[in-house]
Amino acid sequence: MKEEIRQKLTGAVIGLARTCEKNEKTENTNRVFLEALTVAGDWSASIFDMSEMLEKARKYEEEQGKQIKAEDRPAFHVSPYVGWMNDPNGFSYYQGEYHLFYQYYPYDTHWNSMHWGHVVSKDLLHWKHLPAALAPDEDYDKIGCFSGSAIELEDGRQLLLYTAVDQEKMEDGTVRDIQTQAVAVGDGKDYKKYEKNPVLTAKDLPEGASKVDFRDPKIWKGKDGNFYCVIGSRPADGSGQILLYRSENGFDWKFVSILAKNKKRFGKMWECPDFFELDGKHVLLTSPQDMLPEGLEYHNGNGTLCIIGEMDQDTYTLKEQFTQSVDYGIDFYAMQTLGTPDGRRIMIGWMQNWDTIAHRCNDSKWFAQMSLPRELSVKNGRLYQTPIKELDTMRKDRVEYNNVVINNDTISLDKIEGRTIDMELVIRPEDKENVYKKFALRFAQNERFHTELCFRPDESVLKIDRKFSGSERALVHQRRCLVNGDANELKLRVILDRFSAEVFINDGEQVMSAVIFTEQEAKGISFFAEGAAKIDVVKYDLV
Ligand code: FRU
Repeated sequence: MKEEIRQKLTGAVIGLARTCEKNEKTENTNRVFLEALTVAGDWSASIFDMSEMLEKARKYEEEQGKQIKAEDRPAFHVSPYVGWMNDPNGFSYYQGEYHLFYQYYPYDTHWNSMHWGHVVSKDLLHWKHLPAALAPDEDYDKIGCFSGSAIELEDGRQLLLYTAVDQEKMEDGTVRDIQTQAVAVGDGKDYKKYEKNPVLTAKDLPEGASKVDFRDPKIWKGKDGNFYCVIGSRPADGSGQILLYRSENGFDWKFVSILAKNKKRFGKMWECPDFFELDGKHVLLTSPQDMLPEGLEYHNGNGTLCIIGEMDQDTYTLKEQFTQSVDYGIDFYAMQTLGTPDGRRIMIGWMQNWDTIAHRCNDSKWFAQMSLPRELSVKNGRLYQTPIKELDTMRKDRVEYNNVVINNDTISLDKIEGRTIDMELVIRPEDKENVYKKFALRFAQNERFHTELCFRPDESVLKIDRKFSGSERALVHQRRCLVNGDANELKLRVILDRFSAEVFINDGEQVMSAVIFTEQEAKGISFFAEGAAKIDVVKYDLV
């Protein structure tokens, strides 16, 4: 087949050359030229010489993925075609579609040698699985194709920049991982790794930086026309830092600066950085390992961190002004953003956490989901997140209640139920002088199960609790979040999608995300108040 195409292509090109030589009519030249292009298109698609490893992965996922019924997956959150998924990679807009790649191991629902899975979408909600994009099939990435990002090149090709993991034998006979950065280029479906990979290695590190922890490049195009990328790194102090690199063409990279240093404040190694300008500020997102909590900020273990500040354009360093967690729920990590054609900054995250991956549905052929894509903004030194506006098109069957008083009681409301819903709630005290003690919303509920959101206005703390969601494991099942604002009004927007809950607090000032594997028949919703609370509810089914 390849030989046939090669011959056709050669024929077409020779034809074109002859036509040009004879200087025949332009019409004819165009025809031959178009023919050559068409054949060249088929040719490039078919000569993309797929490794056996990638071919095997593609075959496997094709056979296994289609056996998973649509209703056994999330309705509008990304899940892997089959097997395991972690970080979002290459979240980008390319030739009219949103592309999302992900850390992927098709053969099992546990982490293993990393491939890149691939989905595309027109609206960030309805995703189509494409064949796996990368497999760890080269010497320099044989241990795994770790996280990275994507961008469109001048010539229309899509470039993937990812961390290649190899191993090195130590003098004492033990082995350790070595991380470098590599490039692959493709057409939105098939990608060819660059012959001169890796493009960034230990020799490009600043002094003291470890070659064992050097990963997760996030690329963007600067206003000066150059490509830039930020990469997570471990300096000599053992904590984390973010390195900035520059390239004119996406292939040849030079070290620019240490953009930000952890100095042992927020966990240790900083993974999966992203860096962008938003609302007049510079924002650095990263996912630190080994975090310690500070009050109700920063989860123990693998956390999320947002640093808002200003970029010093002379030294290429970030002057920090504000810091916060990105998500205050149980399951969120390794977020990545893209810029939409209409100028929005959209973030997606792995709606899981390394500390809670044992919370799972045992008989499922897929593991893990991405969060809902969220639009970001910066207001008063804080990062705000709201569900993407595209979600509004999925809203159906509006049900509304206003000024419902709940006085030391538990109530349910007609038609307020479901597991794929978008619900807005405003909770106020019935009597401002005598504020209720506690308000609770229960969802994914039947006689046996429920997940609860509980608010205590005197502490201003909102708690999510999935202890009774059907989990058989004694893991972290609760998180608490210190809500800003007064006791007079709490606004919640709760998005449920079969196996998850995302709660946007006070117009997106804070967000709590958690996955739940409660049986789908548990679709009840109830409201409870100790004292007297008054609520407004608007609910839509998401269809
Ligand atoms: C974050 C992470 C990345 C790494 C990838 C490996 O979740 O540890 O730092 O590239 O996962 O799958």
